[in-house]
Amino acid sequence: FGPSGQSCFRSRIDGMMIPYSFKKQIYLHMNPKILIIGACGQIGTELTHQLRALYGTENVIASDIRKLNTDVVNSGPFEVVNALDFNQIENLVESHQITDVYLMAALLSATAEKNPAFAWDLNMNSLFHVLNLAKAGKIKKIFWPSSIAVFGPTTPKENTPQYTVMEPSTVYGISKQAGERWCEYYHNIFGVDVRSIRYPGLISWTTLPGGGTTDYAVDIYHKAIADKKYECFLAAETKMPMMYMDDAIAATINIMKAPVEQIKIRSSYNLAAMSFTPTEIAAEIKKHIPELEVTYAPDFRQKIADSWPASIDDSRAREDWGWKHEFDLEMMTVDMLKNLSKNNTVSID
Ligand code: SER
Repeated sequence: FGPSGQSCFRSRIDGMMIPYSFKKQIYLHMNPKILIIGACGQIGTELTHQLRALYGTENVIASDIRKLNTDVVNSGPFEVVNALDFNQIENLVESHQITDVYLMAALLSATAEKNPAFAWDLNMNSLFHVLNLAKAGKIKKIFWPSSIAVFGPTTPKENTPQYTVMEPSTVYGISKQAGERWCEYYHNIFGVDVRSIRYPGLISWTTLPGGGTTDYAVDIYHKAIADKKYECFLAAETKMPMMYMDDAIAATINIMKAPVEQIKIRSSYNLAAMSFTPTEIAAEIKKHIPELEVTYAPDFRQKIADSWPASIDDSRAREDWGWKHEFDLEMMTVDMLKNLSKNNTVSID
């Protein structure tokens, strides 16, 4: 019992006696209260589920520009929010006492080329809104995704280093490169705890990607199961860095959980798992669906793909906060086909 007769426990941090009635509050403060902006997208969907499993459904507020009838909307708190509306985000942050924001809303590389002004507006201003909320002390931590698109045609293509020539040639890449500079600036000047990863192409079966250059590596699985035929919008030998969604989500959660002193790069970390060409992924799928026929009809996305690295050196992420990938092309293919064929009559060996 404490001096006032209340029942107490001794704090493991400073040895002080703390009334039990405070314990719940302290515990609540240890759990982040999370807002995911862009929760219905390819990454957001998986991230929402994983964060809810980890921190409790009520501690993870999903939000997106539309209320779609998805799992994310139906499995816990959901709010409609426009990532370009500062006041809407601020109100949400205040009313839910948000501590951490994951900003997943963005226009990807192919879509951004079709609407450069909007892509720049969305990708940059949504970031400024969140950075400014952290600068004002209203949130504690930000996750903001960058991409291999920050590199360009003059970047060394193989084993692309963390620090190297960066002359992105796409609107998307320019916005991610500028965003990285701003993240680092807000960290250095205002002490904002913003953490970032340069995602490679991401492959998943739950939610389709929207408007990226690496999307062929998702489409090919769907078409292999449905039609046993796929027309690829990139050339056969275009090698790009890729990652299975399970690994991408693990990286995202782990960089956010890492002790602050382990985060030594405040622009964005290179991150890698595997690299392959359309020919190589097709060959892997053919081990399970031998009838698959792939044809090639490269379109405007070929030029974007050609400007990006073929493989990435992610040793800094591995050294600084213990990044480790699990899935290679073979394991990913087995998992993708197993999950996608559950909703299909085709059986996969
Ligand atoms: N997967 C993204 C795209 O293709 C790259 O970050 O646009």
